[in-house]
Amino acid sequence: MIPGGPTAMTPPPSVPLAYLAAAAIGLFGFGFVAWFAGDKLVTVPNHPAAVSAVHMGVLAFLSVAVLGALHQFGPVVSNKRLRSVMAGRFTMVAMVAAGWLLPNGFAHGPEWMILAGGVSGAAAALVAAWNLSGPLSSRTGGVPILGLRISVTYLVLTVAFGVVYVLNRQAAWFPLLPNRVLAHAHLGLLGWLGLTYVSVAEKLWPMFLLAHRPGARSGKVAVVALGSGTLPLALGLLFSVAWLAMVGGALALVGLGAHLVSLASSVKHRRRPLEMLHAYLAASTLYLVIGIGFGVAAGFADVDTGTRMILVGVEVGALIAWLSLAVAGHAHKIVPFIQYTMLRSRGVDRHPSGRPLLFGDLYRKAPARATLVLLTVGFGLILAGMLTGSVPLAAFGGGSLGISGIVIGLNLAFGPRLAAGGPTPEPATAGRQA
Ligand code: HEM
Repeated sequence: MIPGGPTAMTPPPSVPLAYLAAAAIGLFGFGFVAWFAGDKLVTVPNHPAAVSAVHMGVLAFLSVAVLGALHQFGPVVSNKRLRSVMAGRFTMVAMVAAGWLLPNGFAHGPEWMILAGGVSGAAAALVAAWNLSGPLSSRTGGVPILGLRISVTYLVLTVAFGVVYVLNRQAAWFPLLPNRVLAHAHLGLLGWLGLTYVSVAEKLWPMFLLAHRPGARSGKVAVVALGSGTLPLALGLLFSVAWLAMVGGALALVGLGAHLVSLASSVKHRRRPLEMLHAYLAASTLYLVIGIGFGVAAGFADVDTGTRMILVGVEVGALIAWLSLAVAGHAHKIVPFIQYTMLRSRGVDRHPSGRPLLFGDLYRKAPARATLVLLTVGFGLILAGMLTGSVPLAAFGGGSLGISGIVIGLNLAFGPRLAAGGPTPEPATAGRQA
C-alpha cells in the first residue's frame, strides 16, 4: 500500500486531483496578488491588500491543497472511506470559492463578497469535518489520525473565528480586540495547516526514505505539543493574557522542535538516497526556523508597534513559505502516485521508450527543480522586501511565486500525457467509492 496513493478505500482519483489542480491555480493567484500588493506588504502588513494576498495563499492555495490531500490520505491511512464522495467534491468547490471571493472582497470589495467568501469557507470546513470524520474515527492509524482530528477541529475554529469578525465588520456587535488577527492567524497557520503537515509527515517521511527509526516518540511529541499549545497561544494573544500565550507558545515551540527532530531521525535512518523531495524539505525547514525566530522576536523584542508588525508579518510569511514548499515537494510524489495507478488501470504500463513505466516518469525533473527555486527565491525576496522596506523585492518575490504556480500546474498535469505518449486517460472508478 502506498500512503497517499489509491486503494479500494480512496475516492475516485478525480477528487484529489481536482483539489490539487485548483491549488496550483491558487498558487498562481497568490503570487500575482502578492506582486500587486508588494507596496502594502512592505509598509502595512495588515492593509486589506496584504490580507487579500495572505488569504489567496492560505485558502486558495494551501487549504485547497491540504484538504485534497486529506480526502486521499485519510481513507488510505485509516482504511475507511469518506462519508460521501459528493460531499468531497462540494468541499472543493466551496473552499475554492472562499479562496477567491474573500481575497477579492478584501482587496476591492464589495463587502458582500467578503461575507459570501466567509459563508462559503464555513460550509467547506463544516462539510469537510463531517466527511473526514468517517476515516478519522478509525481506531487504527495512530499519531497521524490523532493529529488530523485535532487539525480539522482547528480548521473549523479558524474559519468560525474569521466568519464572526467578517459578520462583525457589518453588524459591529462588539468592539474588535486589538490582537484578534494574531489569534486567528496562529490558529490557522499552526493549528490547521501546520498540525496537518506535522501529522501527515509522520507517515510520509519514513515511507519516502524507507526509514526504520528506532522509535517515533518525537512525532508523537510534535503532534501532541503543537495540537495542545496552539489553542492557549491563540487565546492568550486574543485576550492579551501574557502567561497563557507563553504557555501555549512554549508548547507550540516544543511541538515544532520535535517535528524537526523527527525529520532528522527519518533522514538519519534512511535506506533510500536523498532526492529532490528532500531539497524541498530542506528549504521548507529553513523557512520554519526563520518563522520560529521571528515569532519569538515579535513576542519578546523591545520594539515599537510598527517594527513588531513587520516582525509578525515576516513570521507569517515564513510560516506560509514553510508550508508551501512542503506542499509543493510532496505534490511531486502524491500526484504521480495517483496518476500512475490511473495509467495502469488503463493498461498503460510502459514508457514510450519501451521500458516499464516509473513514478518518476510522470513529471519532468527540470520544471520540478525550477518550481523549487522559484518558491524558495520568491518567498526569500518577499521576506527581504518586508525587512528592508523594498517594494521591488517584494513584488519580484510575488511574481516568482506566481510563475511557480504555472510551472508546477503544467508539469504535473501534462506529465502522464508525455510519459504515456498519448492523451491522459480517464480516471478509473472500478472498485472504488462511487
Ligand atoms: C473563510 C475563512 C476565513 C475568513 C472569513 C477569514 C477572515 C479574516 C479577516 C476578516 C481578517 C482580517 C482581520 C482584520 O484585519 O481585522 C483575516 C486575517 C488573517 N487571516 Fe483569515 N480568514 C479565514 C481563513 C483563514 C485561514 C484558514 C487562515 C490560515 C490558515 C487565515 C489566516 C489569516 C492571517 C495570517 C491573517 C492576517 C493577515 C495580515 O494581517 O496580513 N485565515 N482573516
